[in-house]
Amino acid sequence: MCGIVGYIGKDIKETLIDGLKELEYRGYDSSGIAILSKNDLFIKKTVGKIENLELASKDYVNTEKSIGIGHTRWATHGKPTDINAHPHLGEFSFVIHNGIIENFQELKKEMSDDLFLSQTDTEVIVHLFENNFNKLNDELEAFKATIKMLRGSYAILLISKTSKENIYFAKLNSPLAIGKNDNGNYSLASSDLAMQEDINSIIHLDDGDYGVVCEDSISLFNNEEKKNIAFKTLNSNKLFSQKEGYKFFMEKEIYEQSTVICDTLASRVSDKISFDELNMDISKFSSIIICACGTSYNAALSSKYLFEQIAKISTNIEIASELRYREPVLDKNALFISISQSGETADTLECLKMVKKMGLKTLAVCNVDNSAIVRLSDEYILTRAGFEKGVASTKSFTTQLTILWMLSIFIAQEKNIISDELLEKEIKAILELYSVLEVPKILHEKIHKLSKRYLHGHGFFFIARDIFYPLALEGALKLKEISYFHAEGYPAGEMKHGPIALADPELFTIALLPRSRLYEKMKSNIQELIARDSTVCIIGSSDKDLADDFIEIKEYSHQMHEYFSMTIVLQLLSMEIALRLGHDVDMPRNLAKSVTVE
Ligand code: AGP
Repeated sequence: MCGIVGYIGKDIKETLIDGLKELEYRGYDSSGIAILSKNDLFIKKTVGKIENLELASKDYVNTEKSIGIGHTRWATHGKPTDINAHPHLGEFSFVIHNGIIENFQELKKEMSDDLFLSQTDTEVIVHLFENNFNKLNDELEAFKATIKMLRGSYAILLISKTSKENIYFAKLNSPLAIGKNDNGNYSLASSDLAMQEDINSIIHLDDGDYGVVCEDSISLFNNEEKKNIAFKTLNSNKLFSQKEGYKFFMEKEIYEQSTVICDTLASRVSDKISFDELNMDISKFSSIIICACGTSYNAALSSKYLFEQIAKISTNIEIASELRYREPVLDKNALFISISQSGETADTLECLKMVKKMGLKTLAVCNVDNSAIVRLSDEYILTRAGFEKGVASTKSFTTQLTILWMLSIFIAQEKNIISDELLEKEIKAILELYSVLEVPKILHEKIHKLSKRYLHGHGFFFIARDIFYPLALEGALKLKEISYFHAEGYPAGEMKHGPIALADPELFTIALLPRSRLYEKMKSNIQELIARDSTVCIIGSSDKDLADDFIEIKEYSHQMHEYFSMTIVLQLLSMEIALRLGHDVDMPRNLAKSVTVE
């Protein structure tokens, strides 16, 4: 994943570090900066979060105009150590990189082992550049020759003592943007978010773009051709996010769900559903294919039930990392929907590219405007969840599923297959989401107290049936990513086909027991586990005394109201367990918010 920034100007250390803080969601195994001024060179790399880098470089003062690059790492090749942290250095140049250089071993074989300090794939770039510079004696030509030799994915920034005024950049399958302020100064970063406050126009580079930025000019090339540069206005309303009194972003984002959902619905719900942003005949598709990763995949899986129940349309859900390497036979008349919070997830993006080549019509459901997936899709719907900073997705999940639910109603409307009664019932239920997603104080307190009983054991099963089954998957994913407990989501009816063999008091079962779908069947499955001594916690509105523990949700008649109130419970439960274990729920180990490598 990794986040990169580059800057030319004064206050360079502070600017680079501020930019990296905004990119910490992309990885926080280590970070580093390199700054070149007329008479000075500063390089600092530290393991762990950006605050370590800030502390380690606190004594460095630089008032001159300088060039600099900064990197926050999510390790792919080589452990998170100071040596493996970026920038990587050669004799006279420094490089940072987001992506994977797939042929780095091959390239390394051509060079002396003594050159290499790190175990990373990235380091090869700086040595290649220096070899090429020694041959060609021209920085841009040397950089061009270097990137030609690379295979894989990359966003690269490189600076060199040979000029001390240029930042070289290249992009292939990893995001990179260049921003400009009113004075014509440039800034480079993996995302708009990391640009300084005064940056007001931006270009998102295309694959194959490379070039050089200096203080007040920029040269951009693709395929040896010089490219025209068309900057777009950058919305000054930066998606800036603070904790607003909450201790963790995850907690803030759980509580925010009831308000951001109003933005998701705004102008889209009246006596019918409308998506004014769509310019296509949604009723013409013979089927739907949805592709996503992680939590977005779980939202997609849940939506399959809604598309089939409400829109009566065949719907297939694909895990992006699997789909991209299959030889799929896809319905050419299908609508292909990519779901992504970040709009940057590499596997989802690659699938989108693949199906576009096959000629399918594509729609993105995404939270980040201008992201790669939004830009590449034929059409897009924004979830409007606001900036999500916690690595564990919460509000992006509820807003994604709400959009997909609304889309299923919209298709049914356009196909003229939804009765007035059902349409009215669904719209009423959607409009009530605001209150369903509110977090009752008493519920949070109950979950906090109960969480201390679930800090040991040999694992968790989250079980449910029907549309609640993907929610069980999401509950398990949430718990494992922040508590590091083994947790598995399972269809309750499948437990007796194998996993029930694990049942004993140290096996914790979190059972979703809605009244709206397959209530009796689910209850029987829970009883089977109780009979085999599993420790069971029921989340539901009835059967308080059936199992060891009970987390009560309000009584709702609509399945999606039960679904979303259980979502809140699962999010809080995983957070409270993780907090009791002393984990940083916003930045769990080994993870990053945006997975821009495969
Ligand atoms: C879950 O909490 C994670 N954040 C992760 O599974 C995430 O949903 C996945 O990486 C997909 O990200 P995206 O929605 O930005 O594409």
